[in-house]
Amino acid sequence: MCGIVGYLGFRKAYPIVIKGLQRLEYRGYDSAGVVLTNDNELNLYKTKGKVSDLKKIAETQNIDGNLALGHTRWATHGIPNDANSHPHVSNSGNLVIVHNGIIENYNSLKKELIKRGYSFDSDTDTEILINLIEEFKKTNNCKLGKAVQLALKSVIGAYAIAVYDRTKSDEIIVARLGSPIAIGVGEDNKEFFVASDASPFIEYTKDAVYLEDEELAIIKLGKDLRVRKIKDDSFVEPNINELQLNLDQIEKGGYDHFMLKEIHEQPNAILDTYRGRLLADRGLIKMGSVDNNITKFLNANRIIIVACGTSWHAGLVGEYLFEDLARIPVEVEYASEFRYRNPIINKNDVVIAISQSGETADTLAAVKLAKEKGAFVFGICNVVGSSIARETNSGAYTHAGPEIGVASTKAFTTQITILSLIALKLGNLRGELSNSTYQKYLHEMVLIPSKIEQLLKIDSKIKEIASIYKDVSNFLYLGRGYNFPVALEGALKLKEISYIHAEGYPAAEMKHGPIALIDESMPVVVIATNRGHYDKVVSNIQEIKARKGKIIAIVTKGDTIVKEIADHVIEIPQASESLYPLLTTIPLQLLSYYIAVMRGCNVDQPRNLAKSVTVE
Ligand code: F6R
Repeated sequence: MCGIVGYLGFRKAYPIVIKGLQRLEYRGYDSAGVVLTNDNELNLYKTKGKVSDLKKIAETQNIDGNLALGHTRWATHGIPNDANSHPHVSNSGNLVIVHNGIIENYNSLKKELIKRGYSFDSDTDTEILINLIEEFKKTNNCKLGKAVQLALKSVIGAYAIAVYDRTKSDEIIVARLGSPIAIGVGEDNKEFFVASDASPFIEYTKDAVYLEDEELAIIKLGKDLRVRKIKDDSFVEPNINELQLNLDQIEKGGYDHFMLKEIHEQPNAILDTYRGRLLADRGLIKMGSVDNNITKFLNANRIIIVACGTSWHAGLVGEYLFEDLARIPVEVEYASEFRYRNPIINKNDVVIAISQSGETADTLAAVKLAKEKGAFVFGICNVVGSSIARETNSGAYTHAGPEIGVASTKAFTTQITILSLIALKLGNLRGELSNSTYQKYLHEMVLIPSKIEQLLKIDSKIKEIASIYKDVSNFLYLGRGYNFPVALEGALKLKEISYIHAEGYPAAEMKHGPIALIDESMPVVVIATNRGHYDKVVSNIQEIKARKGKIIAIVTKGDTIVKEIADHVIEIPQASESLYPLLTTIPLQLLSYYIAVMRGCNVDQPRNLAKSVTVE
């Protein structure tokens, strides 16, 4: 969480850093700040609130300078107020820092620094870190890079930091452990950019270096980037990646919100996930990372899926897919639970980690643990080069393009797409799916993007339903089988962006408690597609109606039975049962979106949330 941006070069730093912070606001938006250096002076502006609030303050002041650091915060230590906002300055007034992460042993470090005469203006762990760096610099009479290295050796926790000394305005020190940081390298080393992801600098350079854990980079104007290992000071050859990202991908493209844009991008995102993999004409699914490890997949005793939030819901769909189509036992685990309960993992287990950002701290820790215990770990990530993508033994990118809206949409459907491809392939190779059934699925998958296109056209119907229910306090979402995880995801989407309390349940579980909530003011979204347990779901709908609940039903085109009883119906195209989640999800995303917009909520930046959860 938290976004970091820095610039050192020949251009005015302020506009680059501010625009970069706006692109990184998905990482947190509790407070924002910027520090600029011009002629050895420090100009520091920071405030509670968003980058737009910061702009109002900074732009009436001196914003000159070719060196700057900026920060957008998701609060961990200390409430979101001006004092706790980053950047932080050391007691001497010379050193400045921006930090993403948590210093766990901040308390003992603080006590030690107080004994040595330091004082603190904020409640943050970051202010302790910059003063610790200052103390090492003073006592060892060393350069800033060395002092940062020594300080980081005494720190327990996670960090991505950028630090500079106002008296040496041609240098920034950057380091990482557990939180991502990218360095953009300009032509002939005449300028450098630092950012939590590459989006703040894509219009300036395509050359990016992603630091690995426990690496420290010394950025010096006019010099090649130098990277060292924090532990033993050894040099590392920086690996310069060519960025594939372009500007269009990170702008709203005429939509009111990123979330709506990303919902509408799903047909293309899924086509990108298919590209080179789903070869229906040749009757093939080709996935290098699966093909190269096929014996591991085929001999798997079980598959363990680890993830958080929406990605965990995709994992639950994966459980149905692998068990149903490939007959491989599956367990789906919250990464945060899995990592701390000493799980039993065997050599023949395949662990699949799912993460849009590829940076979620709990999922990353679960990956490391599973690897330590000898499992083969496969990653499904969206962000190319992310920590989980690099830490796993192998993996497949979803290629959904940048997801900026905090509420995950296209990441979910593309994760399910990858899981479907793998499950179908394994099902066929294990002899669980005959060739003709397998071929039928491949051809049906080809049609999914156009079916989603059709569904996206029912916007006005969903708006009408949203306007009826926008002011309620509670919602229930019910589904069975493959549609149960979709019910969970529908409820999560609604609660996170509209702040309406919503719960997802397997439809049959309703009788075991939630039914007590049902009265005439309770809307219940029921996913009642025509295959699987249709009759049973119809009975559940009757039970709700008998208690005067309001039914919003997701049905298959041509349905007549549910149409008779439901208050509202949303029709989706016909599909095989295992592919329904890719379709039934779409109206639920739109329903949440329109309800949130009608309630005046900040859809792309819901309160208290951040896109990338790099703290546990
Ligand atoms: C919900 C949402 C979160 C994420 C979760 C995991 O809309 O976005 O629940 O799904 O924080 O994030 P990733 O997939 O990046 O590991």
